[in-house]
Amino acid sequence: MDWESFKRLRGSQKKAFFMRDGNIYHVIMAQQFDRGFLDEICNLATRIRQIAKSNEGTRFLLSLLQGRRAMLYFVQPSTRTFLSFMSACQILGMQCSEVRDTSTSSEVKGETPEDTVRTFSSYVDLIIMRYPEPGFAERIAFLLNNSGRPVPVINAGSGRDQHPTQALLDIYTLHRSFEDQGGIDGKKIALVGDLKRGRTVRSLAYLMKNYEGVKLYFVSPPELRMEDDLKEYLREHEVEFEESEDLAEVIPQVDAVYMTRIQDEYDLEGESKRIDYSRFHFKVEYLQLLKPNAIIMHPLPRRQELPTEIDQDRRAVYWRQVRNGMWVRVALIAKIFRVGGEIWHY
Ligand code: NCD
Repeated sequence: MDWESFKRLRGSQKKAFFMRDGNIYHVIMAQQFDRGFLDEICNLATRIRQIAKSNEGTRFLLSLLQGRRAMLYFVQPSTRTFLSFMSACQILGMQCSEVRDTSTSSEVKGETPEDTVRTFSSYVDLIIMRYPEPGFAERIAFLLNNSGRPVPVINAGSGRDQHPTQALLDIYTLHRSFEDQGGIDGKKIALVGDLKRGRTVRSLAYLMKNYEGVKLYFVSPPELRMEDDLKEYLREHEVEFEESEDLAEVIPQVDAVYMTRIQDEYDLEGESKRIDYSRFHFKVEYLQLLKPNAIIMHPLPRRQELPTEIDQDRRAVYWRQVRNGMWVRVALIAKIFRVGGEIWHY
């Protein structure tokens, strides 16, 4: 199959292409994950966290992928995701190299990004990439699969489109938070802010088809509503959702509020400045409206939409999300390299 035909396939049809012998290989889009995989990755992350508590366990984890190398190709700004992946690789004993600035790479000599990444694949065993263009990670995975030396590719953020590993850590955070309340099934979740250009909310919304009876509330300014492709996907998979512009009205109804900042780096001509985003800030008084067992999430970095006064509330879980992200990425890399079984046997 050529790239043009492949590109047009649906996520569910592409899934097989991201697998190898029944095991996950490339991590490109949220649609490729099913419930079995999500449950397994959450349980494996928890097991790894427990093992890492002892020195002996830490040494065991370090031995698992010793001698393997990962390349972090991050040409869009990142602190959390970059360090989270780097730490995850290091916990498993991998060595990491990085390219973060194309002005110092051969791309300035006119090399295509495809050739640049193919060069990396000659040196390393795993490529983790953040790239501004939607579909680029997918194209690289496609290219490498058809090359003599395939290596797994992890999408760490593809422009406005997707951020599948953020969605995994968000699921892990929801899973842990609702462990004693029947899990994620049946929960009501508000996604708030720039839903049009926010890749974290897009990837997370895709994952909701894996849970029973979830209802989503899309709370955004009219200019920044969730795109139709995603709403169509949810309708097809019978995930209930509702759109709203009234955050204060939605908060008392939900079990989780997922806040996001305005993604003004994608502005074409400063259009964000004309939007009144303050209506989509979590005001301190909203804490009174929120259910006692509900949680407040944010992928970070934050701006004024999430005042620091909220941090003291026990329902604020965004710093836990950051930590969960590292463990879920360790679990993911362990699964890609098929050492999950050894971890369970430890
Ligand atoms: C997010 C991203 O990069 O999409 N950050 C992250 O990875 N935690 C969210 C954002 O930048 O707003």
